[in-house]
Amino acid sequence: MTEEIVGLKNIWVYYNDIPILEDVTLSIKQTDFLAIIGPNGGGKTTLLKVILGLIKPDSGEIEVFGESPREGRRLIGYLPQYTHFDLNFPISVFDVVMMGRYKQKFKRYSKKDHEITLDALETVGMLEFKDRQIGRLSGGQIQRVFVARAIVREPKLLLLDEPTASIDPEMQKVFYEMLLELKKKMAIVLVTHDTSVVSTYVDEIACLNRRLFYHGKLEGGIGMLEEIYKCPIEVLAHGTPHRVLKTH
Ligand SMILES: Nc1ncnc2c1ncn2[C@@H]1O[C@H](COP(=O)(O)OP(=O)(O)OP(=O)(O)O)[C@@H](O)[C@H]1O
Ligand SMILES: [Mg+2]
Repeated sequence: MTEEIVGLKNIWVYYNDIPILEDVTLSIKQTDFLAIIGPNGGGKTTLLKVILGLIKPDSGEIEVFGESPREGRRLIGYLPQYTHFDLNFPISVFDVVMMGRYKQKFKRYSKKDHEITLDALETVGMLEFKDRQIGRLSGGQIQRVFVARAIVREPKLLLLDEPTASIDPEMQKVFYEMLLELKKKMAIVLVTHDTSVVSTYVDEIACLNRRLFYHGKLEGGIGMLEEIYKCPIEVLAHGTPHRVLKTH
């Protein structure tokens, strides 16, 4: 059994008395590549924010690397759904990535910071663009740079919130091949609407529509996968609970 790195137990989150997450229980392990799918407004981003300690659940328990989310999150890299970044800012790809190493004020970046930044750029296949101004990249290239920024603190868990939403199929393939490499070093949780990608690359899947349905390891080949993916979207849209893959 691999060790659990994130554990959520019976998590409830409300906005204005409306339940957004209902009784969510989830265990993430160090070897996981988990996709979370589900309809718009299903609570996927909220769930990631709970794991990061940015939203405090109204009830339930959560442990991140054996600590509270606020403490444990130093081991998490995060790529938000919407990155607020001024792409006209006169800053190079290299500097954007190195900013991920963020330091206490007035402390200079070290040689190690530089090395790790170069490594991360190489990992995401963007080393050759390191001196380019950040705005002068394609959408897919920018996403890879942001992944590099998310991994320079050498996280043990990477949370990605719809990272390929605006990327063409060819670039998506490059992106997911890159994730397969990263998976060797860290657990990955990927929020996505792209079910074809899910069937090709990820190992575990969970469907979230306020309630979470965990499907665990995918089994049964492509035919089975197609079945799964028609299912959760439809079932979730109708709000009908479903528990295990086999009964879909
Ligand atoms: N700050 C907030 N205040 C009030 N309601 C919110 C807030 N943030 C999110 N919500 C609501 O919580 C629900 C879940 O939102 P969330 O962003 O987690 O969904 P999501 O699954 O990530 O959706 P999408 O696929 O569109 O990104 C939505 O109904 C949303 O309107
Ligand atoms: Mg979202």
